[in-house]
Amino acid sequence: MSSPEDDLQSSWQHNAQAWIDAVRSGAIESRRQVTDQAILLAVLGRQPERVLDLGCGEGWLLRALAERGIEAVGVDGDQALVEAARAAGSVEVHLASYEQLAEAELDVGSGYDLICANFALLHQDIIPLLAAMNTLLAPSGALVIQTLHPWSVANGVYQDGWREESFAGMAGQWQTMPWYFRTLSSWLNALDMAGFRLVSLQEPQHPQSDMPQSLLMIGERR
Ligand SMILES: C[S@@+](CC[C@H](N)C(=O)[O-])C[C@H]1O[C@@H](n2cnc3c(N)ncnc32)[C@H](O)[C@@H]1O
Repeated sequence: MSSPEDDLQSSWQHNAQAWIDAVRSGAIESRRQVTDQAILLAVLGRQPERVLDLGCGEGWLLRALAERGIEAVGVDGDQALVEAARAAGSVEVHLASYEQLAEAELDVGSGYDLICANFALLHQDIIPLLAAMNTLLAPSGALVIQTLHPWSVANGVYQDGWREESFAGMAGQWQTMPWYFRTLSSWLNALDMAGFRLVSLQEPQHPQSDMPQSLLMIGERR
């Protein structure tokens, strides 16, 4: 039987083109209205010269940072998404799974001022990956994570565990994606265990919405 992690990665192989179309057409309202701007402002606010975008997908954030004069390097585990990011103009985009990154099996550079992960930490055991990312940061470097807000998506069960995303309501052919739900304390504990000190916690919200659109955390190396 395959593990949820295997199914998670194979869902991206299947969903790559639908994802590229959704992101590039602005089909995801929360991104368009709130969360794209939120991560961009969080990254720019740290005034980094060099950024690693972990789980960069088709590379929209790489391009947004490069347009602002920031050297942006991407890494993602899905070949089609990496190729799409390169084809759209990002110069340095590595193909690597989080497992390979956690084991430092691949050189994606080091001395980064900032590493960001935008809705890209979907697997269970994130601590080894975050600890490995910690070693790729400059001494004053920071980690910026934007993720689903646990209270917005808990759906009555506020406990860590695997869930399923069916992408219902989105145009295109989608394969169900397993993803790991994490409570707020679980997120904060993971940051701590990976050697980060939380310096900012934000809950980006749309003025016309009752719920936060995401959870955004900034950690500095301890
Ligand atoms: C929801 S997308 C977000 C992409 C991008 N950060 C964005 O904001 O559009 C999640 C990304 O995480 C990547 N990903 C998920 N699990 C991974 C793993 N185990 N190793 C490498 N990449 C992974 C997927 O390939 C996908 O590109």
